[in-house]
Amino acid sequence: MKSFLPLNWGVDKASKIARGRSWESGSGRRQRTFEIYRFDPDAEHDARLDIYHIDCDDCGPMVLDALIKIKNEIDSTLTFRRSCREGVCGSCSMNIDGRNWLACTQPIDGIKGTIRVFPLNHLPVIKDLVVDLSHLYAQHRLIEPWLQTEGPEPERERLQSPRDRAELDGYYECILCFCCTGGCPSYWWNGDRYLGPAVLLQAYRWLIDSRDETTGERLDKLEDPFRLYRCHTIMNCTKTCPKGLEPAKAIARTKAMLVARKQ
Ligand code: SF4
Ligand code: SF4
Ligand code: FES
Repeated sequence: MKSFLPLNWGVDKASKIARGRSWESGSGRRQRTFEIYRFDPDAEHDARLDIYHIDCDDCGPMVLDALIKIKNEIDSTLTFRRSCREGVCGSCSMNIDGRNWLACTQPIDGIKGTIRVFPLNHLPVIKDLVVDLSHLYAQHRLIEPWLQTEGPEPERERLQSPRDRAELDGYYECILCFCCTGGCPSYWWNGDRYLGPAVLLQAYRWLIDSRDETTGERLDKLEDPFRLYRCHTIMNCTKTCPKGLEPAKAIARTKAMLVARKQ
């Protein structure tokens, strides 16, 4: 049978992923096999794929439950991020069965055959399933994701009508998991300057906030051939958002705002 050995992305373009260790199989009735990407920056060997067997009768239902079980009971060196286990914090994003998703909201039973788990694609890998998000956070800072006003401070809170508040639906729910950005081909090729779907969705969320008074300045920052216009509407981002958001729509609407202000 042909083995599944894709190119190693993120670590060293020239390197391949080697077959790793196959950990001993357990004895449960509902065994599932996990093939997991391992990379240790301190080790001399290349990245590898390790194989683990989990008895699903003795494990929670989600892929994250299996990863935690592996770490607790089989191999404590397996490294991944997680926090809430509720699809809220965005920490456990990774590539599962070929799709970027949250490990805590991906049921094991939703995947047939071997469950293959990799880091988010095309981002530098720090260790195992943990990717380096420093550049993405710097890009997020660039769009100044906070409320900005120019007038005097109100005595109490800044009010927003229910209708204006509803305008933010579909955008404010973003948890910055970066599943979309990891899956965006334009970001793969131009991620140094293109802001990518997650950051652009966040930018749009502030552009349409009725309380914000710096819309013009925000649009000025985005009017750039690389920061915004590298989006070619390929729509991978929308398919891979675990919160069901539509970054491509936010990007298209931002482009429309830029056109509208010229007329
Ligand atoms: S629609 Fe734009 S942001 Fe989304 S995947 Fe395609 S190029 Fe990337
Ligand atoms: S838009 Fe969706 S996929 Fe992208 S960062 Fe936000 S929640 Fe994650
Ligand atoms: S652990 Fe928080 S989103 Fe998965």
